[in-house]
Amino acid sequence: MKTNPFVFGTIVGDENFADRKNELKELTSDLSSRTNLIIFSPRRYGKTSLIFKVIEQLQKKGIICAYVDLYPAATKEKFANIFASSIARAKAGKMDEIIHAIRDLIPPVKLTLRPEGTSEYEGGVELELSHGKNDVDSNLTKLYDLPEKIAKKKNKKMVVVFDEFQEIGKLDGTEIENNLRSKIQRHKNVSYVFMGSQRHLLDQMFNDKNRALYRAGKPFNLGRIPEEEFGTFIKERFKAGGINVSEEVISKILQLTQCHPYYTQQLCHEIWNYCMSQDSKSIEERDVLKAKEQVMKNQNYAYTSMWDSTRGRHRALLLAMAISDEKGIFSSKFRERHRLGAPSTVARAADALEEKGLIEKDGNDYVVSDTFFQEWIRKIS
Ligand SMILES: Nc1ncnc2c1ncn2[C@@H]1O[C@H](COP(=O)(O)OP(=O)(O)O)[C@@H](O)[C@H]1O
Ligand SMILES: [Mg+2]
Repeated sequence: MKTNPFVFGTIVGDENFADRKNELKELTSDLSSRTNLIIFSPRRYGKTSLIFKVIEQLQKKGIICAYVDLYPAATKEKFANIFASSIARAKAGKMDEIIHAIRDLIPPVKLTLRPEGTSEYEGGVELELSHGKNDVDSNLTKLYDLPEKIAKKKNKKMVVVFDEFQEIGKLDGTEIENNLRSKIQRHKNVSYVFMGSQRHLLDQMFNDKNRALYRAGKPFNLGRIPEEEFGTFIKERFKAGGINVSEEVISKILQLTQCHPYYTQQLCHEIWNYCMSQDSKSIEERDVLKAKEQVMKNQNYAYTSMWDSTRGRHRALLLAMAISDEKGIFSSKFRERHRLGAPSTVARAADALEEKGLIEKDGNDYVVSDTFFQEWIRKIS
């Protein structure tokens, strides 16, 4: 049985990664020249996959790179462990050297090292810091100097990526931001990337004059993948699996998914499965539609919970957006037709739906993120 050439739900690289040439060039060049970056996109656009590509290129230039995933950082203690472990995994030097550097910064901390394969998180070694009572805040703040210390010692540049950075704000208000800023603004050898998917929270952190990280980096909005490049990728992936697909069918696929990176891979994955089950070597438009039905069937449970998670005004807005072909959710026509209330009420509902990842900003308007979910809503309404 051949493996499916379309992958979704994990970080993609190598032959599973389409295009992004311009983005790759710009981000690599910015980080090589020590520009801090704030990278935003809705969920599942490919931020994490892209930054891993960028890291690959930076490493080739001899730059040390650390990737800090804040998604699992549910407490400050966890954040300290994740931060220290991520720096240790950047392979800047021997583990002894890293441990030594940490002890230098925070002498009283107790350190436990878990070797590769035994750690709670993916990606190798894990350091666990045990703080004395009430010490976690001050230890954490001192720890922020670790990358600069290592970069200096190795006489190299370093890049530290914070993925899902908005999570930091959920730990203890603005304390971490303040301390982090006060440290990193003095770092001469390290550049920082702040990435995230929750526009609202990131906006508050980086675009509010009263916040410590106000304009702490160059903003970079990651979009969907351009149709032409995505089309070439899809053709090649099917071809690698021995299946032919015409330009018209590719257009149909991308029209259905609106070039959304994740949903396009998801649909193509199902088209491939369908072809295999039919023992077919080429794809017709009707196969695409069959595969789409299958995606919607597979997702039925997820769509039901997404729908159930909305109530009242939020649900009314989602429904109105799903069934209507009009643009402009704030227009009086749209609000009146769907009885959505004042623009401020619509704005609040839009914020809430965006936070859940159900809708996303598109210029001054909003769209439903998953067009298959949109169709599902149309069917049940
Ligand atoms: N450049 C790309 N080429 C092909 N597919 C991609 C690309 N970027 C993202 N994807 C698809 O989107 C999914 C989510 O990517 P990910 O990097 O996890 O996004 P994010 O970090 O923005 O949530 C991947 O599993 C893959 O299916
Ligand atoms: Mg991600």
